[in-house]
Amino acid sequence: MTDDLEGRTALVTGASAGIGFAAARALALRGARVAISSRGGERLADAQRALADEGIAAAAIAADLRHLEEIERLVEEAQMRLGRIDILVANSGGPTPRPAVELTEEDWRAAVPAVLLFVPRLVRLALPGMREARWGRIVAVNSVSSRQPIPNLALSNALRPAVLGYLKTLSQEVAADGVTVNAVLPGYTLTERQVELAAATAARTGRSSEEVRAGWTAAVPAARLAEPEEIGEAVAFLCSPAAAYVTGQALTVDGGYVRGLL
Ligand SMILES: NC(=O)c1ccc[n+]([C@@H]2O[C@H](COP(=O)([O-])OP(=O)(O)OC[C@H]3O[C@@H](n4cnc5c(N)ncnc54)[C@H](OP(=O)(O)O)[C@@H]3O)[C@@H](O)[C@H]2O)c1
Repeated sequence: MTDDLEGRTALVTGASAGIGFAAARALALRGARVAISSRGGERLADAQRALADEGIAAAAIAADLRHLEEIERLVEEAQMRLGRIDILVANSGGPTPRPAVELTEEDWRAAVPAVLLFVPRLVRLALPGMREARWGRIVAVNSVSSRQPIPNLALSNALRPAVLGYLKTLSQEVAADGVTVNAVLPGYTLTERQVELAAATAARTGRSSEEVRAGWTAAVPAARLAEPEEIGEAVAFLCSPAAAYVTGQALTVDGGYVRGLL
């Protein structure tokens, strides 16, 4: 393990579990001081304790990313606790699984802040400090659904590519300031979200969750689902000094699941 992020600070959202937690841990193991955030409660406290058990002192800040005023308070508090934010990992929970034909106005209204808007909101608040320092890393956790739409995930399939369009534009605007902007696109990853999605697909198709998971596994050339740590490592690489010339990219980490070129 390298300590190439020694002296750097990171705010990781959606970090009480799954991919966000793994990303925060990976950054901390490379030497960054991290602030982890989620809606709070026991899950966030447990995550902070789990990091402490490994000798990682993380600040924990509760905020619901669906609300602008909470994001403002989160970034302000993270800046106060960390001194500044060098690295922003924008991650949250996924949207409600639904086929396109069943989407309601309310589904769209709920998903837009939760999947799309929280990213530019976090960026708008964290970016000025990075530009001033002439060093920054922004990584958003997106999905393979941006490359290959996933059945029953119409909201993800529609909104994730919008996030990528925003990030690509941003990456070109801030590259000369030493700030890189990238996304990681996980494939099927063994987290609580994946358990929920298997249950939702099972309920819809009359199969068991185990059968659903076996079907996903069969669709992955690597013949297994990802461990959250494997996604966390990809996030950490994009935040590292070694990735200084990598910007505007969407790094798919999917065991070969996406069948398209690149
Ligand atoms: N797992 C997969 O197979 C997979 C594949 C592709 C893409 N993704 C996407 O990658 C992201 C992370 O996935 P995951 O599997 O790690 O999800 P997860 O296990 O459900 O974890 C989601 C994290 O986000 C937090 N969160 C949820 N809603 C929030 C809100 N409104 N405000 C603040 N924090 C919130 C949760 O913490 P609290 O409950 O404590 O708030 C938790 O820490 C999701 O967007 C997911 O759709 C996942």
